[in-house]
Amino acid sequence: VTDNGEHAMPPKLVARPIWDRPLVLVTGKGGVGKSTLAASLARSAWVSGRSVLLAEATSELAKQSRLFPHFGRSEVATESPEELAPNLFGIRLVPSTGHRLFLEASLRVKMLVNAAMRSASLTRFLMAAPAFPEIGTLYHLITLLRSRRFDHIIVDLPATGHALGLVSLPRSVVKIMPSGLIGTTIREGLEAMTNPKTAHAVLVTVPEGMPVTECFELARGMTGLGISVGAMVLNQVPRDSFDIAERAAVREYLDQEPRKVLGVREFRRLERSIEARDRFFAGVPAGVASVEVPLLSAGGEPLVRGVQQAIEVVS
Ligand SMILES: Nc1ncnc2c1ncn2[C@@H]1O[C@H](COP(=O)(O)OP(=O)(O)OP(=O)(O)O)[C@@H](O)[C@H]1O
Ligand SMILES: [Mg+2]
Repeated sequence: VTDNGEHAMPPKLVARPIWDRPLVLVTGKGGVGKSTLAASLARSAWVSGRSVLLAEATSELAKQSRLFPHFGRSEVATESPEELAPNLFGIRLVPSTGHRLFLEASLRVKMLVNAAMRSASLTRFLMAAPAFPEIGTLYHLITLLRSRRFDHIIVDLPATGHALGLVSLPRSVVKIMPSGLIGTTIREGLEAMTNPKTAHAVLVTVPEGMPVTECFELARGMTGLGISVGAMVLNQVPRDSFDIAERAAVREYLDQEPRKVLGVREFRRLERSIEARDRFFAGVPAGVASVEVPLLSAGGEPLVRGVQQAIEVVS
């Protein structure tokens, strides 16, 4: 309170957009909306005038992109970034590109690289080695970071386990191979990923019991690996058209009503989602931004724009 009795206004806090790191790792359980969110983060950064690379990390086996259809593309290149719009690029990160880049850097003889990459038995042998696919993806990611071509690299990571593996597996390799080209490069990548100024994770979940619990576990896992969790996003939150009293009245009515009533399942689901939502916001660790994205009826690009709007208001 100031001398003249007025309440002093707190300084206005301008939240930093959740895409505002050189490297943004989007992850979460399957089907929660990681790709949609990654696309929306990329768009948000891009319309702010940044140069953005949107990267979809997939396994060698994934036949089709699940991300770039959001940009009207069924596919993008896996070798080098492809322009989607001026200053907006897309790439698919597959382990073999990283392996090739690594071999090129260490062998420096293209013919040998080609021969090694063509050898199906060698590749099969190596792909079965623990951490080999992760190291390929990580290596490729590092070369892209090193190029400094982009203000932001936003990575759409596959479901939970892979995200943790991308850091934990290479780390265990560095322990046994601390020096040499691979050791040094992987260490550089791990340093970038575990520096909160350079990188953070954006975790996505939905308002349901298990997914919320798993999201907290994932946050702990990430933190345990030294990766900063920048934001937790609760996606696909259904619209609640009741106030508390109305909901209580409907609940009471349904509890007493033995006959089947239309919409009862939706109502129960809404109640569960409200409970999960409360638990989510109560559990987001201090210092981590939390964002809510409504369940939208749009699909494709309109959905990406809708989600973009929601994430631009960060609490
Ligand atoms: N806020 C939302 N409102 C409505 N639909 C949504 C929303 N977010 C995502 N979806 C839809 O949910 C489905 C899954 O989304 P998305 O593909 O982004 O999830 P994902 O986590 O990347 O899945 P996967 O684990 O398979 O890669 C898609 O059909 C998408 O259109
Ligand atoms: Mg996806």
